[in-house]
Amino acid sequence: MRTQVGIVGGGPAGLLLSRLLGLAGIETVVLEKRTPEYLRARVRAGLLEQGTVDLLVEAGVGERLLRQRLCHDGVEIAFDGRRHRLDLKGLTGKIVSVYGQAEIQKDLMTAHEAASSNIVYEAEDVSLHGLMGDRPQLRYHKAGEAHEISCDFIAGCDGFHGVSRQAIPQEVIRIYERTYPFGWLGILSDTRPVNHELIYCNHERGFALCTMRSMSRSRYYLQVPADEDVADWPDARFWSELKRRIPADAAAALETGTSIEKSVAQLRSFVAEPLRHGRLFLAGDAAHIVPPTGAKGLNLAATDVRFLSEAITAHYRSGRTDLMEGYSARCLARVWKAQRFSWWMTALTHRFPEASPFERRAQAAELSYLISSKAAQTALAENYVGLPIASTALA
Ligand code: FAD
Ligand code: DHB
Repeated sequence: MRTQVGIVGGGPAGLLLSRLLGLAGIETVVLEKRTPEYLRARVRAGLLEQGTVDLLVEAGVGERLLRQRLCHDGVEIAFDGRRHRLDLKGLTGKIVSVYGQAEIQKDLMTAHEAASSNIVYEAEDVSLHGLMGDRPQLRYHKAGEAHEISCDFIAGCDGFHGVSRQAIPQEVIRIYERTYPFGWLGILSDTRPVNHELIYCNHERGFALCTMRSMSRSRYYLQVPADEDVADWPDARFWSELKRRIPADAAAALETGTSIEKSVAQLRSFVAEPLRHGRLFLAGDAAHIVPPTGAKGLNLAATDVRFLSEAITAHYRSGRTDLMEGYSARCLARVWKAQRFSWWMTALTHRFPEASPFERRAQAAELSYLISSKAAQTALAENYVGLPIASTALA
């Protein structure tokens, strides 16, 4: 089989890239190892920058998003039992949107079904070959049968645990990494959100985040030790711990209920450079991971996909290669700013078990400075709503 762009991974990055290239008349095949049912049920991200919303609209998958999203003008930071609102719109002129990653995944899959796109689910043993030549290949098994796809280019959109990044030789790839001694225990429940905007809580028992998916579906996270077992967290324990960590007025207003999803996510900062090796281009979590505190992961994946679809489209339309050559540097400039912000937001809001008394005092001073300084609030807000996306004039 032959295609123009072979895409490994059918998460948000892979499906969005396939969609944008399809609209530009470029043929793709997506290889995804999971089933459609599994993908539709995966919860994860919830907060979108305007640039991500705009890209989904451009890709023709924004109709339900624009109808159902919750627009947030502000966000709250709580510490010492008190809540402080940051006026995102007043500080930056921009807002953020709440719309679940699972809904984006469903919208992308529905659009691909309607367009009869070439997506292979349950593709096993995917491997990449001939990346430095003119015709790289993807090999895989489906239902026990071996297949090979010959491509012009390969996009590695297969997330942090995927195979694409592993196909880049050790001597070429540089890894920058930081792990954190804690994870996030997340719960989803069909209850009214405790507040109409998000609350990031710094508490001596650990960080907590109150977020949502709609006005009748809540999402809450608790900082837990890195090796925590979800089985040790029956709903009653989760709700009682959350109530201890959020300010008293929020705890009093908290509606509790049965969880419909519960999972632990590890926190990690990770960047692999460069994002291109021969005819392979990495995008999204395959190339970089941020701790979720700044809500940047999915948004970064969307920006990579924007840049990659522009580069590939320019190549097929006019033979331009400069955007492909500049792809990695263009992504990394933004990725590192989001890395810095996510690491800083994590340091500001979490309790680090190994922190010295000095570091604890410095964290308290930083929180106090934040709520007293418009300049500090603006710095947080402009990163939180999303830094500008450098445009490239397309011929
Ligand atoms: P993925 O979503 O990981 O998709 C990769 C796909 O590749 C998967 O479907 C996988 O099955 C497939 N795959 C893997 N290996 C193979 C293989 N060998 N062969 C074929 N297919 C393969 N981001 C935000 O922007 N905002 C938030 O609010 C936010 N909150 C988060 C909260 C939590 C608790 C977590 C865990 C993450 C959060 N994120 C957030 C991050 C966000 O979910 C990810 O950045 C996003 O999913 C990245 O998309 P992706 O398509 O690059 O990777
Ligand atoms: C959500 C997740 C985040 O990591 C974040 O910073 C904000 C919101 C969410 O799941 O809604």
